[in-house]
Amino acid sequence: MKSLLLALNVSLLAWSGISYAVDIERGQELHDSHCISCHAAIYGDKGNEIYTRENRKINTLNELQAQLKRCKNSLGTNWPEDQMLDVQHYLNSNFYHFKE
Ligand code: HEC
Repeated sequence: MKSLLLALNVSLLAWSGISYAVDIERGQELHDSHCISCHAAIYGDKGNEIYTRENRKINTLNELQAQLKRCKNSLGTNWPEDQMLDVQHYLNSNFYHFKE
């Protein structure tokens, strides 16, 4: 019975997404080594200003997620969902500050 309850608990946690521990540091590492250079090349700055520019396009968490998918595709990576979430949390906690 105990293991059944445990299994139920684990699947509920997985279902609600709570079991996943966000790793913002890993998000920053991924971001800095794969994403910054293209933004910097396009906008001619250090690469992070794109997130705080005046006319930025991203105004909601959903838009942020959609943009991350587009950029992930242009980068051509195959990062699993948890890595994308780490990057998303890194960007959100440092630049966007949308309510999650
Ligand atoms: C091949 C070039 C390229 C790569 C690589 C790239 N991006 Fe982008 N990114 C862009 C361009 C171009 C825009 C601006 C799009 C626009 O203005 O419509 C952008 C915009 C963004 C924005 C929105 C900025 C805003 O306006 O607030 C986010 C967030 C973002 N990128 C995240 C990422 C992440 C995370 C990665 C790495 C997985 C990444 N990008 C890799 C080209 C790239």
